[in-house]
Amino acid sequence: MNATVLIVDDDPVQRRLAEAALTRDGMAVAACGDGTAALDHLAERRDGVSAMVLDLVMPGMDGIAVLEALRQRGDQVPVIVQTAKGSMDVAISAMRAGAFDFLVKPVAPAKLAKAVRDAVKVAESGQRRATPETFRKRAASRRQGVDLIGNGPEMTRVKRLIAKASASDIPVLIEGESGTGKELVARAIAGRGARATKPLVIVNCGAIPDNLVESILFGHEKGAFTGATEKHTGKFVEADGGTLFLDEIGELPNAAQVKLLRAIQDGHVEPVGARGGRTVDVRLVSATNRDLIAAVQTGRFREDLYYRLNVFPILTPSLRSRTGDLPELVDHLVERQARKAGLTGVPKVTDAAMEVLGAYDWPGNVRQLENELFRALVLSETGVLDAPDFAHIAAQLDGSRRPIAPMPALDRPLAPAADMPFPPAAPDGVPEPPPLRERPAADRGHCVPLLGADDHARPLAAIEADAISHAVSHYDGQMSEIARRLGIGRSTLYRKLREYGIVGGRN
Ligand SMILES: Nc1ncnc2c1ncn2[C@@H]1O[C@H](COP(=O)(O)OP(=O)(O)OP(=O)(O)O)[C@@H](O)[C@H]1O
Ligand SMILES: [Mg+2]
Repeated sequence: MNATVLIVDDDPVQRRLAEAALTRDGMAVAACGDGTAALDHLAERRDGVSAMVLDLVMPGMDGIAVLEALRQRGDQVPVIVQTAKGSMDVAISAMRAGAFDFLVKPVAPAKLAKAVRDAVKVAESGQRRATPETFRKRAASRRQGVDLIGNGPEMTRVKRLIAKASASDIPVLIEGESGTGKELVARAIAGRGARATKPLVIVNCGAIPDNLVESILFGHEKGAFTGATEKHTGKFVEADGGTLFLDEIGELPNAAQVKLLRAIQDGHVEPVGARGGRTVDVRLVSATNRDLIAAVQTGRFREDLYYRLNVFPILTPSLRSRTGDLPELVDHLVERQARKAGLTGVPKVTDAAMEVLGAYDWPGNVRQLENELFRALVLSETGVLDAPDFAHIAAQLDGSRRPIAPMPALDRPLAPAADMPFPPAAPDGVPEPPPLRERPAADRGHCVPLLGADDHARPLAAIEADAISHAVSHYDGQMSEIARRLGIGRSTLYRKLREYGIVGGRN
């Protein structure tokens, strides 16, 4: 993809984060600090800009005004709106004013890159800019072409469970590490069975500010709270008749957990600020990359809700536990990424390169593999992907190509509540899913020095900055994962990134 993306944000840190996310994805970027400069930039070199990432709240000309000006000019550049003020109404106004998509800050680098890629793809295919209506419907069409690669025992089991799950409306909980294909599994379930032609509505519970979760899930009435200037239909109602995919369900705040439980039990949803509600017919699929049962044990997640959601568990295996699928996955992903990168041929991956890829333990799983292949494809000048194209992966292999030792499994009972109709109807012969495993704690050669070059203790802040920077690289910029692993909140993480001047990319 030959994309130059114009980033418009008055906050230099946000500009840098967005720049890092997009350049890492192989895109060229330009940046402006205000709306007027952005419009000038577009007027001067419009041909070179294939998408724009626009902050909504800026001094002077704000994002909505920029969108209006573009519309008046007839400029069709696709715009992804970013907003820190998580007001649904503002986001909807932006969509009305012609934005292609909107994201609520903080946005994970991979999500931003994906939104931009989607926008460019649609713009290049000559489709009109999305209206709020098409924006909603897009989710339904996205599930086309779900391609779950892997024929080893782990993926075969997952595919069998998908087939079983889609034969009924049983609630499914997909558990697995980041990047293992949970969303892909959810799309596969929704794309089969009786609801295949009905909407699939996806909600990332971790990406919505706490105070908006309820209104996004269940809707709100006009005037229900400050800033609610219009009535809003919730995701449950949007998904009526179809499937609702609640991603990162472990991030759901407590009050929303209570309301969700009620909605599942009664099939009845009540918009925020409404007197009554309505009945909905929704098939629920949820996903989590954290150990939910541990969250239940610490009281972070309601036990009754856990059992309601976890009627049919599907565990997506880590890539390191299914290295047998690696050659097939690499072939598939190289082809897909080559198409994405606009290459004419599909580069061959040498045996030496496969050996490097096979020895690595892939903490970011298939998504990380996909990113590595994309980066290698973009950087390679030979039309062949060889071991040196994966030098920084090789550098993490500890010298010896040792296989990564599995960690002892966490004991994780999966007994359903007594009143649940399942597992009596459990898939026959399918063994209990293996428990979620912790990533190996082995240091893989990384250590943060405690002494400086002067042989004196380094300041704690410098050690912390090193630890955070390593985590950013280790988890491939996945901010919620990084915050969780480091045991700090996401806003604290973002503050520290700003304080220490760490950008979201690998170092
Ligand atoms: N079995 C697979 N076959 C082909 N592609 C896969 C497979 N698993 C994952 N992928 C690809 O890897 C990327 C990540 O997958 P997905 O978004 O479904 O993971 P996830 O588990 O939801 O990750 P996260 O926890 O970070 O949200 C996607 O581009 C997806 O297409
Ligand atoms: Mg996901």
